[in-house]
Parts: sequence; structure tokens; C-alpha cells
Amino acid sequence: MKVLVIGGDGYCGWATALHLSSRGYDVGILDNLIRRHWDAQLGVETLTPISPIHQRIERWNNLSGKAVDLYVGDITDYAFLSKTLREFEPEAIVHFGEQRSAPFSMIDREHAVMTQVNNVVGTLNILYAMKEDFPDCHLVKLGTMGEYGTPNIDIEEGYITIEHNGRKDTLPYPKQPGSFYHLSKVHDSHNIHFACKIWGLRATDLNQGVVYGVLTEETGIDELLINRLDYDGVFGTALNRFCIQAAIGHPLTVYGKGGQTRGFLDIRDTVRCIELAITNPADAGQFRVFNQFTELFSVYDLALKVKNAAIAMGLDVEINHLENPRVELEQHYFNAKNTKLLDLGLQPHYLSDSLLDSLLNFAIKYKGRVDEKHILPKVSWRRS
Ligand SMILES: NC(=O)c1ccc[n+]([C@@H]2O[C@H](COP(=O)([O-])OP(=O)(O)OC[C@H]3O[C@@H](n4cnc5c(N)ncnc54)[C@H](O)[C@@H]3O)[C@@H](O)[C@H]2O)c1
Repeated sequence: MKVLVIGGDGYCGWATALHLSSRGYDVGILDNLIRRHWDAQLGVETLTPISPIHQRIERWNNLSGKAVDLYVGDITDYAFLSKTLREFEPEAIVHFGEQRSAPFSMIDREHAVMTQVNNVVGTLNILYAMKEDFPDCHLVKLGTMGEYGTPNIDIEEGYITIEHNGRKDTLPYPKQPGSFYHLSKVHDSHNIHFACKIWGLRATDLNQGVVYGVLTEETGIDELLINRLDYDGVFGTALNRFCIQAAIGHPLTVYGKGGQTRGFLDIRDTVRCIELAITNPADAGQFRVFNQFTELFSVYDLALKVKNAAIAMGLDVEINHLENPRVELEQHYFNAKNTKLLDLGLQPHYLSDSLLDSLLNFAIKYKGRVDEKHILPKVSWRRS
């Protein structure tokens, strides 16, 4: 099967592209490399020294004997996107190619607009290109659990059946996202749902939780295949960030009380979930939604786990409760369903002491690359 991985130079996309390639899929990567540019603009670098895209693909080719096609360009450029699809002829498109940081989208008006234009227009272009030339292709789109917000009822997988004034319907689950980035994902979901309805396209929206870890079977085999691992206050996500802070002896940065509860998953499960979605495609006209996470943790629980693992390794670690730069509930009900990917056969890698040890050791190995001035959050959700 031919699979185009859009955003294949990024954290989830690179790991997924190699996983699919090793599993025998014919993989193409489309990426405009803008994420490397945003890092440079912010003056931050991934903890790990990632090699240039041409080099990492060539290395994969040499080691595995498998070719990965590369298309460098922007999906908001419709002519480029359409030409690429015609050349590659995908049977499935995995779409990771978006601006994915909530703080980045909240820096100022320019970053909010840029995030929404990049994400919403890029996805809309994919839908039009599919409608024109590849109406049978299956779109696997990365959404986020953050689309739901933190409602005081259980979160279903995409849809909820409601009885109102004696009538009953199954409707899209209400969305209460917490940043302009998360809102861009909600707009995407609506556009994809609509395109499936009117054009008969097939799509799976994967509402992914926060991803942690760095090694997958494929990216771990050679230094040139190494994946990115972000620790800075803009792109670093909880757990990855905490492990790197622990490695350099920086207090773990919990925002506010730390009762914020979210879905999490190991990057080894991300790549497997994508494969499960591809091999079990949505029907024509179906907009399918899966919640892609394996466990729920509060931010404070995670910090405590990292602290304990770090102390066991002889590291000196404290937890700091910083003033929360975000506007969000810090203690709340959170219970989200996640059975659909398990039903398709996902066998989760649950967060274990050995994973924490390996991530901490990994962080220690590269700790010389950490620039401490980028650790604390600088972007505030509030009026200044
Ligand atoms: N990392 C997580 O914890 C997480 C959690 C939930 C959802 N997601 C979603 O998964 C997807 C991938 O996340 P990630 O962490 O790998 O992000 P990333 O920033 O590492 O990778 C995104 C890639 O997309 C590319 N890209 C962005 N805009 C593009 C455009 N217009 N045209 C072509 N390429 C473009 C970037 O250059 C980058 O290589 C995102 O959609 C994100 O919202 C990630």
C-alpha cells in the first residue's frame, strides 16, 4: 500500500514513516521543513541532534534496503500538493503536517493567525486534492484529545448520543479547546466531517493524547535516524520535558496545582495506532474518530513518577509549582474512552519504570545540548 506521510520530518511523522516502511508499506514523506525553521526562529534546538532530512532518508535506505520518496513543499500551496499526490498516487494519507504547539499559537496575533491558516488551509487543500483525484484514498488525520477540553462528563470517541425534548440523535461530541492551536484542530475536524458527508471521502480523525518517549524500533538503530525530543517551554510536552529537566537537575516545571489530567501514550504506540488505522480503513463517506491514548495521568502524578525514577538513579530532583501561564482548570473531572484502537488490536506500552529509566538515560546522554534559558514557559494566555 502506498502511504504518504505529511509532516514526516517531525517527531511523530518520522517515527511513523520508518515504522510503515519497515512493515512493507511504500512510503513517501511530504514536509516543508518549517518546524526546523520555527526552532531556529525561537533559538531552540531539539535535545537530540537530528540529521537533515535527505541524510536521514538515505541512511534508512542504506540500512533497510527500503526507499522512501521525499517531497519538500508546503501543503498550503495547492499546486504543489496536487502535483505531489498525482506523482505519488497515495492509497492512504497520514496527516501530521501542522503547527502543533499550543504556546506557539498563543504568542501573539501573528502566531495565532499563522497556526490557523497553516493548519486549516493545509487540511482543506488535502480534502480538495483528494476529492479531485483520489476520492478513495483514506485520510488519517492527527487531531488531539485537547479538542474536547475538560468537560464534567465522560468523553466519548468523537460522537455522543443525546436525548433532548423527547428526541434522540448521535452528534459530534462538544468541543471546548484551550488554545488557538487546539481550535485549529476543531476547525479541521469539522471540515473533514463535512467533506466526508458531501463528497463521500473516507477519513479517520485520531484524537491523540500527549506523546512521550523517543526510541522506536526503527529510529533507535542508528544515530543518523535519531528522532527529535523537545524540552523547551514552547514545543516541549509534559513527561519528555520533565525527564530532560531531571537529567540536568532543573526543578520539574508543573504549571499551577498540576491536577490537569490528560491522555498520554508512548511513541511506539503512536506508530502502531497509525498502522492499525490504515489497515482498517474508514468506509466511503465515513468520518471516524478514535481517541488515541493509552493512559490518563495528572501532570503532578507524572512529575512525581519522574522525580521518583530520577532519585532512584541518584539524581537530585525537586518539583516546582509555577504560576500557570495557561487559562485552564487545575483540578477537574476527566474520564475519556479509548476502546476503538484497542478493539483493532493495539497492545499498549504502558508507562513503566524501565521506560522512565531509558528516557532519563537518554536525556543524560544529550544533556550537554540543553540551553537552560529555554526551559521556563514564557508565553501567557492572559492579557499582558
Ligand atoms: N507530539 C504530541 O505529543 C502530539 C499530541 C497530540 C497530537 N499531535 C499531533 O500530531 C501531529 C504531529 O505532531 P509532532 O509532534 O510530530 O509535530 P512536529 O512539529 O514534530 O512535526 C510536524 C511536521 O509537519 C511539518 N509541517 C507543518 N506545517 C506544514 C505544512 N504546511 N506543509 C508541510 N509540512 C508541514 C513540519 O515541518 C514538521 O516536520 C500534529 O498534527 C500534532 O498536532 C502531537
